[in-house]
Amino acid sequence: MSQAHIVVIGNQKGGSGKSTTAMHLIVSLLNRGYSVGSVDLDDPQATLSRYLENRRNFMGSADMILSMPEHHTLARSIYDNRALAHGDELARLDSCIQSLAATNDFIVIDTPGSDSHLSQVGHSYADTLVTPMNDSFIDLDLLAKVDPETHEVIRPSGYAEMVWEQKKARAIRDGGQVDWIVMRNRLSTIGSRNTRAMEEVLGALSKRIGFRIAPGFGERVVFRELFLKGLTLLDLRNSESGIRMNMSHVAARQEVRALLTTIGLDQPSNYPVMAEGSGTHPL
Ligand SMILES: Nc1ncnc2c1ncn2[C@@H]1O[C@H](COP(=O)(O)OP(=O)(O)OP(=O)(O)O)[C@@H](O)[C@H]1O
Ligand SMILES: [Mg+2]
Repeated sequence: MSQAHIVVIGNQKGGSGKSTTAMHLIVSLLNRGYSVGSVDLDDPQATLSRYLENRRNFMGSADMILSMPEHHTLARSIYDNRALAHGDELARLDSCIQSLAATNDFIVIDTPGSDSHLSQVGHSYADTLVTPMNDSFIDLDLLAKVDPETHEVIRPSGYAEMVWEQKKARAIRDGGQVDWIVMRNRLSTIGSRNTRAMEEVLGALSKRIGFRIAPGFGERVVFRELFLKGLTLLDLRNSESGIRMNMSHVAARQEVRALLTTIGLDQPSNYPVMAEGSGTHPL
């Protein structure tokens, strides 16, 4: 397989911001001139695929060209037999990733907000795993059980255990390591007791189960208002988008950039060498 850098966006908690983060990451990388393959494992919801479809339709109606990834949607297996279904899903995912890796600098994989075999094996391909989570103990519950009085971490829970298993699967397959980053999403601009408590617990948990913490995205309308046009806040400099930049947009862009910095993708020296003829055109 060529050296495409694979970023998986995962969290079994629904609605934590996976598809939104995936789309912003994809457009950030495209706008930096890199070729990006994308894979949607969230069958049948397929939010990322719908987002990209809207982007293609918007290009047609506004008669303009926007950067696009090479996108694939992978459906769950049609086999009833569990072993056959798992083998089929693994084979299709592996071949999809191999073909995208041959011609792209990055691959971004969006996963469903629930447990599925396809999602599990998808995690084992990550060079970087980004887990967006809402700033709430309800979301944290999928990472660890926490003592209600002392806020001490009692033990890792379902999603953290699954990530641990997939890290092992990755190591066995090719000796590679998964860099796990947890990113808080929809942060309130007003500091609260909950926010501070979450910060403390996440800090302790990161050492215990091995992830890094990204600064995260604030609660901002711009992250949800552009879906129908298939745009991201990184596209707003184009006047055709019909949306004027404001201070919140500028701050949101900084947040996306900070995520790339945490991943280690905002330093040109850290980018893979661009594949020949791979340049897509930033707006
Ligand atoms: N930072 C943010 N500010 C405001 N709204 C946000 C933000 N991040 C995500 N949202 C909104 O939250 C909702 C869930 O986001 P999204 O679909 O990206 O989550 P998801 O984890 O992919 O969900 P699922 O598990 O169902 O696939 C959407 O309505 C999205 O527009
Ligand atoms: Mg989603």
